[in-house]
Amino acid sequence: MKLSLSPLQSGGLLAAVLLLSLSLRSSAQIAGGTPPPANPTALAWDADMKEYHAKLGDPKAEVFFLVTNTSPAEVVVNSVHTSCGCTTAHLPPMPWKLAPGADGRIDVSIDLTGKTGLIIKTVTVASTAGAKELQIRVFIPDPQVARMENMQLAQGDRQAVFKDSCVRCHVTPGVNKRGAELFHAVCGVCHEAVHRASMVPDLHHLNHPTSADHWRIWITSGKPDSLMPAFSQSMGGPLTDEQIESLVDYLVKANPSMDANGTPASH
Ligand code: HEC
Ligand code: HEC
Repeated sequence: MKLSLSPLQSGGLLAAVLLLSLSLRSSAQIAGGTPPPANPTALAWDADMKEYHAKLGDPKAEVFFLVTNTSPAEVVVNSVHTSCGCTTAHLPPMPWKLAPGADGRIDVSIDLTGKTGLIIKTVTVASTAGAKELQIRVFIPDPQVARMENMQLAQGDRQAVFKDSCVRCHVTPGVNKRGAELFHAVCGVCHEAVHRASMVPDLHHLNHPTSADHWRIWITSGKPDSLMPAFSQSMGGPLTDEQIESLVDYLVKANPSMDANGTPASH
């Protein structure tokens, strides 16, 4: 038998299929409980996108989003999905019910380890009002560029390391410290850096004799027209005389004087 459908017949078949699928769908909804119709405008967010300008060395970026249920019905947040394992969202336990008029907050934390430049992360919030994508743009300075800029600043003013944004890494770590601890906090930054700049000498392998006076003079006054700053408070530095003496004691013991060949003169 040959099966051929006239346009009228095929239209009727299509209608029947549509009807069938519609009735299937509505019976499935009845079985699962009819969800309220999604109202995409029910949740009002304070922003769809937040920016974070990280400082060099920031371990993470932290932003938050505020949300208000502006609808007359309860909205239930069922799930939150972040775009990578490095991004975590903190919010009340789910299902999170927002009564009409209620406010809420989602805190987002992004791990910045090993990242530079611009990174874009998303948090998708699924609720009875529908799905909402929130975006976070983080700007992370390139350490090499930042280092060049810092060095240029210090070339113009060797005391720059003790000012403004430099304080965080070059002064604060040494506050109230003495001796070895103080050395590692404020001297080691430059002198023991893994990628030590070529003009910064290795204090463990100096090729000339040293003495308590040698260390004291260098720490107190540094050297004009170099990147070695003057640390004493009398010269605008951060260290008290007592802190400087604790460094001198430490350095005399830790770095015994070298002879002209770079070998320890006395042991
Ligand atoms: C986030 C911490 C941090 C901040 C902020 C910072 N520095 Fe540094 N600085 C370092 C570290 C770490 C080194 C050791 C070299 C390296 O690993 O980059 C260093 C080294 C230096 C050096 C030695 C030359 C070199 O590149 O090794 C100079 C000069 C310097 N910093 C100046 C500055 C100035 C000026 C500022 C402020 C404008 C500043 N730094 C802000 C961490 C910091
Ligand atoms: C901002 C980076 C930086 C910091 C911080 C720093 N230094 Fe220096 N230091 C230098 C540079 C650069 C030189 C080389 C100066 C030159 O001769 O051009 C130097 C030179 C020296 C020298 C002379 C070495 C020699 O030839 O005998 C001594 C000693 C010294 N520093 C000790 C210290 C001590 C101690 C501290 C901590 C209190 C310290 N430095 C902190 C950058 C730094």
